[in-house]
Amino acid sequence: MEKILFMNSSPNREGNTYRIGEELLKDKEHDVLQMADYRISQYGQVFEDDEMKEVLKEIDKYDILVIGSPLYWYTVGGMLKTFIDRLYMLPETEVLRGKNYIY
Ligand SMILES: Cc1cc2nc3c(=O)[nH]c(=O)nc-3n(C[C@H](O)[C@H](O)[C@H](O)COP(=O)(O)O)c2cc1C
Repeated sequence: MEKILFMNSSPNREGNTYRIGEELLKDKEHDVLQMADYRISQYGQVFEDDEMKEVLKEIDKYDILVIGSPLYWYTVGGMLKTFIDRLYMLPETEVLRGKNYIY
């Protein structure tokens, strides 16, 4: 069976984004990754406690990623934008290849 991960990229762990994701997946077995639980530095910043690679390791365990974001100023929220920015030139990004995405 394909494993599903719902990534909630809202800082509100049980806010509207989370609720919509849970409603969408209510009949499907899935796990939740709260991006608010991870420290992801901005692209170009170097901090020792950065956890971008931990997030990618977690994602690697799943086949389907459901990505939820609140709408901030007519676009995705900063957490998701930063995550996407950080994928640039990062070898560990390979884990994303071949997965199915719903956003
Ligand atoms: C900084 C910020 C910017 C926002 N910008 C928009 C926007 O452009 N359009 C909109 O309809 N709602 C906007 N909102 C409202 C959020 O999208 C809305 O409250 C959303 O449900 C929050 O999701 P959450 O409960 O998962 O955090 C904004 C909220 C914040 C905090």
